[in-house]
Amino acid sequence: MANRLIVDNAVAGYGSVRVLHGVSLEIRENETVVLLGTNGNGKSTLIRTLFGLTELTRGSIRLEWNNESIDLSRMATEAIIDLGLILVPEGRRLFSELTVEENLMLGAFRSGARKVLKRNLDLCYEVFPIVKARRKQRAGSMSGGEQQMVALCRALMSDPRILVIDEPSVGLSPLFVKRTMEAIDKLKKERRLAVLMTEQNFKQAIRIADRGYIIQHGTIVFVAEHVADLDNSDVIRTAYLGLGKVAA
Ligand SMILES: Nc1ncnc2c1ncn2[C@@H]1O[C@H](COP(=O)(O)OP(=O)(O)OP(=O)(O)O)[C@@H](O)[C@H]1O
Ligand SMILES: [Mg+2]
Repeated sequence: MANRLIVDNAVAGYGSVRVLHGVSLEIRENETVVLLGTNGNGKSTLIRTLFGLTELTRGSIRLEWNNESIDLSRMATEAIIDLGLILVPEGRRLFSELTVEENLMLGAFRSGARKVLKRNLDLCYEVFPIVKARRKQRAGSMSGGEQQMVALCRALMSDPRILVIDEPSVGLSPLFVKRTMEAIDKLKKERRLAVLMTEQNFKQAIRIADRGYIIQHGTIVFVAEHVADLDNSDVIRTAYLGLGKVAA
C-alpha cells in the first residue's frame, strides 16, 4: 500500500454555507502537491477540514500509511496531529513574545517528535541559517519572511509525515517567496515528506510541485498529474482565473 492521504468527495462549510462541493485529492509520500486557487475559493477551508477544524458533512479523509488505513473524518484535531499531519497555518501564528528557539521547541510537543528533536533542529538550522543566527530573538520582531521560515521550522520540529502549508508566499517579497519554496523543496527531499501546499502564487508554486489541483468555488476544476500541465496559458485563463477562453 502506497503511503498517502486521500480526500474523497469532501463536502464542508460553515453553518448553512457550503464551501466545498465534493473535493477529491490525494497526497503521496515524497511528493509536493499544490492546491492552486485565487481568494475565497476554499483552500483554507479544505485545510481546516483536513485537521477537523471545519466539519466534514459528506465524504471521507483517510490516511494510508505503513499498511494501516486510518479514517480521519471524525477524529479530534490533536489525534490527527499526533499521526504526523502538521500544519503551517495561514499567517504563521507564532508566539510573538517568545524567542525563535522557544517557538521551535513548542513544535516538538508530540511524543514521537521529542525523540528526534536534535536531528530536526539541526536540519532546521542547516536549511535556514538565519533562523539559527536569530534563535535568541523575539519571534515577533522578525520580518514576515523570516517568520515564515520560523513557522516552517516549527512544523518540522513536530516531525511530520505530511506537511500542510497554507499559502506560504503571502506577504513575502519575490526573493523570499523563491527562498521559501526552495526551502520547502529541500525539507521534502531530506525527509521524504508528503507536502500539501495551497498557493495563489502560480509561477513560484509550480517550480517545486510534482502534481497539482486547481480549486474554484469549492470544486476541483483541474487535476494535473504532471506539474507541466499547469504551466499552460489556457489552463491559467480558464481554470485558475475563471475567465473562459479568449476568442482568437
Ligand atoms: N468561519 C467562516 N464562516 C463563514 N464563511 C467562511 C468562514 N471562513 C471562510 N468562509 C467563506 O468560505 C469561502 C472560502 O474561504 P477560504 O478561506 O477557504 O478561501 P481561500 O481559498 O483560503 O482564500 P484566501 O486565498 O483568501 O485565503 C469564502 O467565501 C469565505 O468567506
Ligand atoms: Mg486561505
